[in-house]
Amino acid sequence: MGNFFRGSIGKSYVIQAVILLLFLGPQSNEWKAPNDADKLVNPYQVNTEILGKGEKTYKQLCSVCHGNKGKGDGVAGSALNPAPSNFSKERVQSQSDGAIFWKLTNGKTPMAGYKDILTEEQRWQLVTYIRELGKIKKK
Ligand code: HEC
Repeated sequence: MGNFFRGSIGKSYVIQAVILLLFLGPQSNEWKAPNDADKLVNPYQVNTEILGKGEKTYKQLCSVCHGNKGKGDGVAGSALNPAPSNFSKERVQSQSDGAIFWKLTNGKTPMAGYKDILTEEQRWQLVTYIRELGKIKKK
C-alpha cells in the first residue's frame, strides 16, 4: 500500500509538470535552434561576391516578409503572427551562424524551410547576408 501511495504521488507530479509545460509552451514563443546547430560551420568563403549573391536571393525570397533592410517590416509580413524576425536585433545576431542556417533550412510556420528550395551554398550566402543586415543598423 505504501508503495502504491508513493507511486501515485510520483505520477501526479509528472502530470502536474506536463500540465505546466502545456501551459507555458504557447507563452514562450522563442524559436530556438537545437544546440547541435551551433556546430555547423560555413564551409564557403565570405567575400563581397558571396555577399552580393546572398543579397540577390534575399531580395527575391525573404524581403517580402523580413523587409529590404531586414527589420521584419516586409509587405507580406505585417499580417503574420508571429511577426517576421528583425535581423538588426541582438536577439538574432547573437545566435551562431549554424543556428541561423538551421532555422532558414528548416523553417517554422508561417515561414517555409528552404532546404529543398535553395542549395546549401545559397543558404550559407543568406547567413552571410543576414550578418550584413545586422551591421547596417550599427553604422
Ligand atoms: C512568409 C514570410 C516569410 C518569408 C518569405 C521568410 N521568412 Fe523568415 N521568418 C518569418 C517569420 C514569421 C519568422 C519568425 C518565426 C518565429 O519566431 O516563430 C521568421 C524567422 C526567420 C529566422 C529566425 C530568426 C530568429 O528570430 O531567430 C531566420 C534566420 C529567417 N527567418 C530567415 C529567412 C530567410 C533567409 C528567408 C528567405 C530565404 C526568409 N526568412 C523568408 C517569415 C518569413
